[in-house]
Amino acid sequence: MAQYLVSGANRGIGLEFVRQLLDRGERVVAACRHTARATELNRLSGQFPGHLKILPLDVAEPRSIAGLVREIDMLELRIDVLINNAGVLTSGETFGEVDPKALGQAFATNAQGPFLLAQALAPRLTDAAKVVAISSGLGSIERATRFGTPSYNISKAALNMAMRMLGHALAERGIAVLALSPGWVRTDMGGAGAELAVEQSVSHMLAVIDALVFDVAKIGWFLDHNGERVPW
Ligand SMILES: NC(=O)c1ccc[n+]([C@@H]2O[C@H](COP(=O)([O-])OP(=O)(O)OC[C@H]3O[C@@H](n4cnc5c(N)ncnc54)[C@H](OP(=O)(O)O)[C@@H]3O)[C@@H](O)[C@H]2O)c1
Repeated sequence: MAQYLVSGANRGIGLEFVRQLLDRGERVVAACRHTARATELNRLSGQFPGHLKILPLDVAEPRSIAGLVREIDMLELRIDVLINNAGVLTSGETFGEVDPKALGQAFATNAQGPFLLAQALAPRLTDAAKVVAISSGLGSIERATRFGTPSYNISKAALNMAMRMLGHALAERGIAVLALSPGWVRTDMGGAGAELAVEQSVSHMLAVIDALVFDVAKIGWFLDHNGERVPW
């Protein structure tokens, strides 16, 4: 039984990670912005007593990250697997009118947040822990063939570099770091027409995370939900 921490855990991919992890007997810290409104998480907490802690976290706010770390310390928890899942996508951006606030929010949520959260939790990670960030195929520079959702694409490319840097920082402790693309998934973000059911994407990603071990030749790699490399 390992201790996981999942950010953005109240809906979509994050919630499905929590569900599947609890189903197989793990312990989970589910972090989300509005804990009182996290109805499904609160229901799961009753269904899996002692296995689920729901804690507040806005990954875009460094003070909120510090608050979460204080709670983790008070609970005397050590984290085996950190899943940086929270993310934001602004749609409908057009060139000439990209809003600096949207770009900044995307960067703060999708790139800065996962890096700072992992940095703050680093002393609370167990040796040979795993740090995973849910990235996106839209963060692949090589695959960017059109002007689509720039704030999101730019921030996810930055997230990939953030994970690479983190991987080097944590390498001496044997902590494996990975950027993981979930595929196109039916959630609020992915929409109803997306290719993959959330259950399918998450079970694939959990298999990749389960198989993840520290390898000096694979620091901060960028993989898809099937464990295949995604071009940078
Ligand atoms: N769905 C896809 O097709 C797809 C494809 C590629 C990558 N991804 C990535 O997968 C991850 C999960 O996406 P999803 O499809 O589950 O999206 P979603 O349904 O829109 O859920 C996003 C989650 O992130 C949380 N979040 C957003 N900003 C946050 C912040 N500042 N602090 C804490 N939590 C925050 C949201 O919380 P609130 O409820 O409080 O808003 C929500 O729980 C994201 O990183 C996304 O970029 C998704």
